[in-house]
Order: sequence, then C-alpha cells, then structure tokens
Amino acid sequence: MFHIESVTAYPKDYTETTEVAKNELRAKARPKLIGQVENMKGYDVIFLGYPNWWGTMPMPVYTFLESYDFSGKKIVPFCTHEGSGMGHSEKDIAKACPKATVLEGIAIHGTSATSAESDVSSWVDRLSIS
Ligand SMILES: Cc1cc2nc3c(=O)[nH]c(=O)nc-3n(C[C@H](O)[C@H](O)[C@H](O)COP(=O)(O)O)c2cc1C
Repeated sequence: MFHIESVTAYPKDYTETTEVAKNELRAKARPKLIGQVENMKGYDVIFLGYPNWWGTMPMPVYTFLESYDFSGKKIVPFCTHEGSGMGHSEKDIAKACPKATVLEGIAIHGTSATSAESDVSSWVDRLSIS
C-alpha cells in the first residue's frame, strides 16, 4: 500500500482546500510527493484511490501517474465523491497512462464510504484481475 501524499499539505479548511486545488488544476501543477514506490515493476494490478476533486483526481495523483511506467499494467480506479461520481477521472488516467489498461472503477459517496462494503465486494467480483 502506498499513500499518495503531497510534500505541501492542503489546508485543514475545506473551502480553502477547494481554492488551492482549483488553482493547482488550472496551473496543471504536479505537486512533489513524499516517498516513492520502490518496486513498481513487481505490480501488475494497481488499485488507485482518490477523492473526486473538481471532476478529476487531485493533482498529486497526476504526479504519481507520471512518475512510473505503467505499460502493460492494469489500473483499477476507485474514488469518493459528493455527487459527481468518477467525473472524467477514468479518461484522465487513460490519458496519463496510455499503455495501461484502465478497468471499471467505482465511485462511492463520501458519506456512505463506511457502509459501502457490499457495493465494493460486487465491484471487485466483476473485475477481471486474475
Ligand atoms: C478540492 C475539492 C474539490 C472537490 N470537487 C468535487 C467534485 O467536483 N465533485 C464531487 O462530487 N465532489 C467533490 N469534492 C468532494 C470530495 O470528493 C469529497 O470531499 C471526498 O470524496 C470525501 O472524501 P474525504 O473525506 O477523503 O475528503 C471536492 C472536494 C474538495 C476538497
């Protein structure tokens, strides 16, 4: 498990974070991350989790996707959101990693995340990741 974490933390205040994130999105920022995956070559399937921010992924996730070679790997996205589902994040992942296969994602309403177990199980069962 690797936690995608920006060197510069986001503000604790929600509204401030929406503003910071909007500016990062507009600037196509690639925030520097803490740490790295040491052995990405050893993974064929990557479950990629993030909150939906402005219809896409937080910019640190773009930094992550552009930091490794995902050729031939499967990326399985999952996100939390407050109404817009996956947004256009699946397309954005495919664009960032054109040589990877992006499998069906799942979007969970943030407030329902703790009771999403059965939805998550049936989603995992539908995935062809063997
Ligand atoms: C910067 C920012 C932008 C967001 N943009 C969206 C959005 O476009 N669509 C949406 O459904 N939710 C949006 N949200 C709500 C987040 O998806 C929600 O807070 C998150 O999924 C809940 O997970 P968390 O508790 O880990 O933050 C946004 C939240 C933040 C902080």
